[in-house]
Amino acid sequence: MKSPKSPYPPNDQVTPAETAVLLDLAAACLHLPGDWVELGCYKGDTSVLLGRLLQQHHPISPAPTNSTHSATTSTPAASAPAPHLWIYDSFAGLPEKSPQDLSGAGQHFQAGALTVTKHEVTTKLRRAGLKNTIVKKAWFSDLTPADLPDQIAFAFLDGDLYDSIKTSLRLVAPRLVPGARLVVHDYNNPELPGAARAVDEFLRTHPRTLTVRHSLAIMV
Ligand SMILES: C[S@@+](CC[C@H](N)C(=O)[O-])C[C@H]1O[C@@H](n2cnc3c(N)ncnc32)[C@H](O)[C@@H]1O
Repeated sequence: MKSPKSPYPPNDQVTPAETAVLLDLAAACLHLPGDWVELGCYKGDTSVLLGRLLQQHHPISPAPTNSTHSATTSTPAASAPAPHLWIYDSFAGLPEKSPQDLSGAGQHFQAGALTVTKHEVTTKLRRAGLKNTIVKKAWFSDLTPADLPDQIAFAFLDGDLYDSIKTSLRLVAPRLVPGARLVVHDYNNPELPGAARAVDEFLRTHPRTLTVRHSLAIMV
């Protein structure tokens, strides 16, 4: 039997069911103060959907004037800025795995896999009409707190590997506002066991409720 058509553009990393959950969670954060972040954007398919949702509710936003970021934004305004979606990726694909990532499955997730150019992603965001995104090319381990928004209302961590998720959690957690949704992909993915290991370790030192839907670990 043919599966029902997905309402979302094709995405080879996140399933339509996961996308629906992600967008619901993000929508629940629209009233919160703070920006949204996605660590690990790959081709920017989920970024477009998140950016659209945010822009529909918070149209025309000024860009933080930090020259190290490339922003698809309009000019600064005098009033408080509307929230932005901050997107991070190496744009050089995955880094090396660590021992926590090793499993019988997932051999194709090798260093350098999932490489796209930053230009490819910024072009996609621009064509989608987004003026509220900030794209940062960096290894997560090279990011400092200054590279992240001061307040985060919604975070999607999709770096696949143990170190990538662990580093993302370390960067993002201190900036989450009360009620923020923190979502980590691949929690239930036997090909990428490091993601769940990083989440479980994080929860030992940062106790909070964990809900798992599909392969999404959701923490509020
Ligand atoms: C599964 S893809 C992201 C998919 C995307 N979130 C989506 O919904 O379509 C993982 C991305 O994380 C990036 N990545 C993984 N570990 C990273 C790290 N340590 N630093 C920077 N980028 C990393 C990879 O380059 C890759 O583009």
